[in-house]
Amino acid sequence: MEFADLRPIEPITREHDRKAFTSGVKNLDSYLRDRAISDTEKNLSRVFVLTLKEKPNTIVGYYSLSSLQIPTDRLPEALSKKLNYKIVGTTLLGKLAVGEEWQREKCKLKLGEHLLLHAMLSTWIAAQSVASWALVVDVLAAEKGDPTDFYVKKGFLAFQDNAARLFLPMSTIEDVLRKADLIGTIR
Ligand SMILES: CC(C)(COP(=O)(O)OP(=O)(O)OC[C@H]1O[C@@H](n2cnc3c(N)ncnc32)[C@H](O)[C@@H]1OP(=O)(O)O)[C@@H](O)C(=O)NCCC(=O)NCCS
Repeated sequence: MEFADLRPIEPITREHDRKAFTSGVKNLDSYLRDRAISDTEKNLSRVFVLTLKEKPNTIVGYYSLSSLQIPTDRLPEALSKKLNYKIVGTTLLGKLAVGEEWQREKCKLKLGEHLLLHAMLSTWIAAQSVASWALVVDVLAAEKGDPTDFYVKKGFLAFQDNAARLFLPMSTIEDVLRKADLIGTIR
């Protein structure tokens, strides 16, 4: 498979085949099947899917975003000192998964990374209207092993009291997107 075989990442609709998606992690598959549409309709989450050009209903991967308030005293001290608020608004990357047949062992396109970069771009664009201090993810170490390094490679850092909760400051997201030529130098 090539990138040319994929459609641009788009918001989920009822047309997408949610039942056929298998990432190997039950929680991520059942969320897509049972809750992604209703959460979207209730304005609780936004869910984005990567699909195939030839079979536009086939979900290759997906991610979800919502908002999350975090206590700043759980951040590394050097960062929390600068914030001057006890709680700040962030964006939660609630789910991110690639279907088993397209994961890194079987596909060289790095589709997890592709989805993560798109999630960063969506987060950054939304944050130009409603500020968000960071993108936060609760790493799901499950049947498929521990994907912490997948996020750490992109610059995510751990909260002080919870190694499974990672964050990527918006300032870092902006750098990553600029280096990837996804946003310009002047806003
Ligand atoms: C984790 C997941 C999204 C990664 O997507 P992928 O397409 O398989 O991985 P990519 O090819 O994009 O990997 C990008 C980089 O992260 C690394 N990586 C990916 N998954 C990893 C893992 N589980 N552990 C350690 N490193 C990982 C890759 O080796 C690669 O490193 P490189 O740039 O040095 O070559 C995907 O494997 C998946 O959906 N897994 C099951 C569900 C899951 O665990 N989701 C995360 C929930 S928090």
